[in-house]
This record gives sequence, C-alpha cells and structure tokens, in this order.
Amino acid sequence: MKTVVITGANSGLGFETAKKTAKNRDFRVILACRNMEKGKKAKEEIIRETGNENVAAMQLDTSSLKSVRAFAEKVIAQERKVNVLVNNAGIGGSAPSGLTEDGFDIVFATNHLGHFLLTLLLIPVMPDGAKIFSVSSDMHNPPGGIEWKGVEALAHPAEEDRNRYAASKLCNVYFIHELHRRLAAAGKKITANAFNPGFMADTNFSRGRGKEMEPRIRTQWPERIGDLAESSDALAKLVTEDTLAYISNAFFDRSTRAIFTSALSYNEENEKELWEASMRYTGLEEPAIK
Ligand SMILES: NC(=O)c1ccc[n+]([C@@H]2O[C@H](COP(=O)([O-])OP(=O)(O)OC[C@H]3O[C@@H](n4cnc5c(N)ncnc54)[C@H](OP(=O)(O)O)[C@@H]3O)[C@@H](O)[C@H]2O)c1
Repeated sequence: MKTVVITGANSGLGFETAKKTAKNRDFRVILACRNMEKGKKAKEEIIRETGNENVAAMQLDTSSLKSVRAFAEKVIAQERKVNVLVNNAGIGGSAPSGLTEDGFDIVFATNHLGHFLLTLLLIPVMPDGAKIFSVSSDMHNPPGGIEWKGVEALAHPAEEDRNRYAASKLCNVYFIHELHRRLAAAGKKITANAFNPGFMADTNFSRGRGKEMEPRIRTQWPERIGDLAESSDALAKLVTEDTLAYISNAFFDRSTRAIFTSALSYNEENEKELWEASMRYTGLEEPAIK
C-alpha cells in the first residue's frame, strides 16, 4: 500500500486528483486541508464514490509554519512513510494583501514556503521510488513577462506586487529544479517534478471567478486553457503509474508530457537564492537532505 499526501485536496484539482488516485486500491490518500469540515466532506465523498476506505483528512494550513510542522509530525507518526507528495494547495494574487502569522506575504507563504518546509520534513520518510510534485502554472511566465525581484521582495513586499502569484508559481519551478539537484547529490532515489494544469474555470480558484474570467482567457491566451478533468487525470496518472516514475526535474504540461519552461525559470542563481532564503525563513539547517 502506497501513501499519497495531497495538499489542498478538498476542492478543484487536489480533490479530483485525490479521487482518481483513490480509485486504485493500492493507494492510501491523505487529504491535507486547512478547513477540516471541508476535508471531512471531501473524504466521505471520495470513499462513497471509490469504495476505497483508505482515505483520511488531516488539518494543514500551508501559510503557517507551525501548522506545517504539526501536520508533518502527525503524518510521520501515523503513516511512517510517504510515497507521493503533491504540493497542490494554492491561492491567487487577488488574495487580500497582508502578512501571515510568521510575517511573510500570504501568497508566497501559502504557495511556496509552507510546501518547501513540508517537503523537507517528509523526505526522511520517503522511500526509494518516492515522487514529489509541485503544482505550478504557466503563469510562472505571465503574459508580458516577469522580473525576478529577489526572494526578500516576495517574502516581505514593500509595495503591492501585481505579479506575486506569478512569482510564487515561478518559485514552485525553482524549488523543483534545486530540489532535484539536491536529492540527486544526496543519493536519494526520489523524483521531483512540476505540473501545470492550465487555466481551469471549474475550480474555486481566484475566489470562484473562473467562469467569469474564462471568455477573456479563451480569446487572449487560448494556449493557456486547461481542463479540470484532463489535468486531474494526468496528475493522478503521474502519481500512480510506475512507468513515469523515473522522470525527474520536468514540467508536465496539462498531461504526462513534459515541456520546457521560460528562460528565467532555469536561472540557477535564483534557484539557489530561493533555497537558501527558504532555509533561513523556515529555520531549517543544512544538510536539509541527508
Ligand atoms: N484554476 C486554475 O486556473 C489554475 C491554473 C494553474 C495552476 N493552478 C494551481 O492549481 C492548484 C489548485 O488550484 P485549484 O484551481 O484547484 O483551486 P481551488 O479549487 O481553490 O483549490 C485550492 C485548494 O488549496 C487549498 N488551500 C488554499 N490555501 C490553503 C492553505 N493556506 N493551506 C492549505 N490549503 C489551502 C484550498 O482550500 P480551501 O477550500 O479551504 O480554500 C483548496 O482546497 C493551485 O496551486 C493553483 O495555483 C490553478
């Protein structure tokens, strides 16, 4: 039996991927949700629809380092191993400005920093063949482009940044590249990949404004359109199928097909800067991967 942890699994892509993964009885699925009422409802629905009783909901708020630590401790004590981690939870740039209880920008903390800490805390219980996915976006390279302002400017913004969502999704790609390098250097047989679901109008993302935004996206950026059913099919395949298990450091695009990302997303200096700052912010010590 393999254990899969999916963050933000009570709705949208996380929920559909959890459900499709649970259809395979070889998998136990942990729904990591910030709202336990929604988490329990999702768990019941997945058990009812799949007949797989091996589904659990557990509390996790990726914007809180304390919550991430508590969640990781509980998962390790309860499950002993994690075979697949899907870092999916995310919020859009239209989230109210403000800092988290740890003093970080809410989008940076929710989409990147909490997942950074969670991943590093769980790696010690990930066996050979384990897989890590970060749900990024083609918005890592938004229309009009993006400049890398440095990690400090993302974590502690001095002014409103209309690109903070895009920057957080670029951080997801940077994290995967650096994580892949460090896993290999530590001799770990664990893969790390990013996934782009494309624009999905049917999720609760952007405070449920997907349907309203869809006609404009279809007209202006048709190449960015995604589909919740197709993307969750692909992500569940990546999670469950062994044939894809050897691929690492890739960006899967709305499918099990990998593509190249923006030129900026391969900047190794920025990748290292993000890693080192995230280590400081989370209070972790090197070597983070032993
Ligand atoms: N929708 C799109 O067009 C699109 C395009 C590209 C990439 N993506 C990415 O796809 C991923 C999933 O988004 P979605 O479209 O499926 O949206 P969604 O339906 O809003 O799902 C997001 C999930 O993340 C959870 N979440 C938000 N903040 C959290 C926190 N602090 N701690 C724990 N969980 C948290 C949400 O929980 P609550 O229900 O409690 O809010 C929800 O379960 C995100 O990473 C997003 O960036 C989406």
